[in-house]
Amino acid sequence: MNKLLTTLFALFVACATSMGQAQTAPAAAPATAAAPAPAAAAAPAKTATPASPKSIEAKVAMCVGCHGIVGYKASFPEVYRVPKIAGQGAKYIAAALNAYKTGDRKHPTMRGIAESLSEQDISDIANYYENLGKQGRATLGDKPNREADAQVAGLVQKAACFSCHGANLSKPIDPSYPKISGQYPDYVFVALKAYKTENNPTFGRNNGVMGAIAKQFSNADLKALANYVGSLDSELQTVQESRFHHQ
Ligand code: HEC
Ligand code: HEC
Repeated sequence: MNKLLTTLFALFVACATSMGQAQTAPAAAPATAAAPAPAAAAAPAKTATPASPKSIEAKVAMCVGCHGIVGYKASFPEVYRVPKIAGQGAKYIAAALNAYKTGDRKHPTMRGIAESLSEQDISDIANYYENLGKQGRATLGDKPNREADAQVAGLVQKAACFSCHGANLSKPIDPSYPKISGQYPDYVFVALKAYKTENNPTFGRNNGVMGAIAKQFSNADLKALANYVGSLDSELQTVQESRFHHQ
């Protein structure tokens, strides 16, 4: 079965689920979700139209078909696990979604999805994912739980990864920067290559900071960096879809 078809089907199911939830959404906010934004709280419970669902469940229904399935893989431009976003900083999640929206990030599916989100949606969704799974989450120590071997330690030092992503790679110096410790290594590798890529209409990320950094390295170096980063303990999670439904 063609991977693209699988992806499109997952999207379709997610959209269908989203519609269904909009019509049947219960009036009560879920106990564990991030505090609802004032606008959402003020909206009358029964009048939301299917075209503009307001509950947070409806807003993220489209996301769980990919980000809510442990091990779910994307296949473009190569096969890699879709990133963990639960536990990521809200400001970074919002920045990433806005980068897909403006086209600075070129991933076609995520662009289409981000374009469909309002500013309010992005803010609600970002807060929701920052807090999702928070109760069971490990708090990391100040230093990475594993030391890099000499080769990778040299690469990390060359680009001073810790100076921005934090001494444990999970405490970024600015909330719009990502936690990267323990992110899926295959995704980290694709993301790092994307920062190096220019003039490709469907693959790449336009980012002054990470572009300059990624361009200093060969793909073999980026892979070694990604494998190290991905081998570390994480505050990031993929929260399984079934848990989402039970919460
Ligand atoms: C069809 C699968 C799919 C769906 C549905 C989907 N995503 Fe994604 N998402 C991806 C893939 C693949 C990437 C990695 C894209 C890239 O390489 O830039 C991604 C990347 C992201 C990122 C960037 C993560 C990072 O660490 O930089 C965020 C944030 C995100 N998605 C949020 C969402 C939200 C919110 C929704 C629902 C509104 C959603 N996604 C729906 C597949 C999906
Ligand atoms: C000067 C600050 C700075 C330094 C140094 C830095 N980064 Fe980043 N990094 C950022 C910022 C800012 C972003 C977010 C860019 C964006 O919005 O796409 C980022 C994004 C990333 C991402 C994408 C995360 C995701 O979820 O998609 C990875 C992976 C990453 N950096 C790895 C590294 C590694 C590895 C190093 C060292 C080799 C490094 N960074 C050094 C600032 C920095």
